[in-house]
Amino acid sequence: MVSHDSPAVTMNIRPAYPYAGMPEPKLLRFPPGKTLDEELSTAMKRAEAFGVFYPEGYYQRLLEKYTREGVRYPHILMILGKPRINSHFSYSQVLKGTGRLLDYGCGTGDNVRQLLRDGFSQERITAFDINWASIGLGVDLYRDQEVIRGLFIVSDTFPFGPAEFDMVYSASVFHVIADDGEFANYLAQAWDVLRPGGIFFGSTLGQSGDGVARSPEEWGPPRVMTREQLTGSLTGAGFTRPEIVQKYHVPHYLADNRCVFEFCTKKPV
Ligand SMILES: C[S@@+](CC[C@H](N)C(=O)[O-])C[C@H]1O[C@@H](n2cnc3c(N)ncnc32)[C@H](O)[C@@H]1O
Repeated sequence: MVSHDSPAVTMNIRPAYPYAGMPEPKLLRFPPGKTLDEELSTAMKRAEAFGVFYPEGYYQRLLEKYTREGVRYPHILMILGKPRINSHFSYSQVLKGTGRLLDYGCGTGDNVRQLLRDGFSQERITAFDINWASIGLGVDLYRDQEVIRGLFIVSDTFPFGPAEFDMVYSASVFHVIADDGEFANYLAQAWDVLRPGGIFFGSTLGQSGDGVARSPEEWGPPRVMTREQLTGSLTGAGFTRPEIVQKYHVPHYLADNRCVFEFCTKKPV
């Protein structure tokens, strides 16, 4: 079912997991040393720096809500207010580009808000996710539901047709998809929805150096790929000559050998 209307912010709705028959991803835990109350407070300060105003008691209300409901992707709260799209190596090309952009797995919508700040017109942006959980968190923190609500689409099935978009952006989505079939499906849909010649760009947590990717922790994502695995996944889905740039990832634990891989690739004409 496609839906444009988020559950009114701060309503007590836990969106259903849309993939019938697949295990619902468990709520991840905050990494050691990180807590909901501190991360919420810091994320609110970052949002305030973008001009957001919070009424008296708002922090307490949000704290109660997310203590009760949990935060499905704690890392998303830890980085809320720190958009990544504008440091992507393809960003200037994206801003100069024409046509429509899909943020595929948009989460809180931090990255589409950055596009808007940088003058990308709202009519050219669609932000899609499979549930309202993180979109709701973003709207709770930015308090911009009236301005931004039209951008978001949530659906349990992929609601777009072939070649609808000129650019598809995917940030921190690959690494949260545990199931190989779902991951292959995600890439196939990114391919299908792009017009020939369109670009597919984004980022994912990767494993730097040689050796075996460390097994996922209870607060870590399930799919941490090597550069070769990422290249193979993209080319296997039909994308051409992916450009991959390795970026620094703040270690979460001793011997954390993960990095961020930014990628940009094209659907051949
Ligand atoms: C870690 S969050 C990243 C969100 C956002 N892109 C960002 O950079 O902040 C991962 C997001 O991917 C979404 N997601 C997971 N599987 C998906 C799928 N198959 N299709 C679309 N979105 C998906 C999740 O619901 C979640 O909002």
